[in-house]
Amino acid sequence: MVAHSGAMDLDPLHAQRLAAAARAVEVVRDGMVVGYGTGRAAMAVLDALAPRVKAGMRVLGIPTSLSTAAHAARLGLPLTDLDAHPTLDVTIDGADEVDPARNLIKGGGAALFREKVVAAASARLVIVIDATKRVPRLGTSWAIPVEVLPFATGACVRLIGEVGGAAARRLDAAGAPVVTDNGNHVLDVAFDAGRMVHPRALDEAMRAIPGVIVTGLFWSFDPTVVVGTDSGVEVLGPPL
Ligand code: A5P
Repeated sequence: MVAHSGAMDLDPLHAQRLAAAARAVEVVRDGMVVGYGTGRAAMAVLDALAPRVKAGMRVLGIPTSLSTAAHAARLGLPLTDLDAHPTLDVTIDGADEVDPARNLIKGGGAALFREKVVAAASARLVIVIDATKRVPRLGTSWAIPVEVLPFATGACVRLIGEVGGAAARRLDAAGAPVVTDNGNHVLDVAFDAGRMVHPRALDEAMRAIPGVIVTGLFWSFDPTVVVGTDSGVEVLGPPL
């Protein structure tokens, strides 16, 4: 996750994220349980929510990563978990890519597993993005993040290859495998452009491989997508 900084506030894309986040939090009402996503847009959502909570609105959050939990704690946002609240009213998160049918690629920040768990437990999903995240088809600028069991990583690379995907192990700056908050590895998987228009089929093909835990293809959620643009905020899909 990229930390907030003064320099970042000058970034026009961050200005788009902030405007979209401010609009997205209008969906949050007193008494709700809210899924908190991971990444820059999701942090902007927490920043936008914090003053309302400070002013007395009762909201419980379920964070999708340790870094999000830490940011919520810094802002004084109270947290809960899926045992206490197995159903959430809404999850508000970011995305790496959004196609015209509002299918998503997520997991650029390696939090895809908990993000999908929390989104699936929520009555609705709201996605906050800057305008660059809208793409004509998934895979335009991102591969598909796939979380795998470390024991199975090598086999998963080979077996994903057998279903047509080119899988690269995600490494950190020191060249070591990235390890998720769940202790797993991440592959970034590229498919031919023609197959990227069938995210459900790709998701199912990869999930059928033992050792694959979850993919960053979010195709089943019908999200509301709140897009920051240079000329204002656009809302796609179900209204806020
Ligand atoms: C985290 O794993 C991701 O799914 C993020 O939601 C996604 O990478 C978008 O992050 P930014 O809002 O930082 O671009």
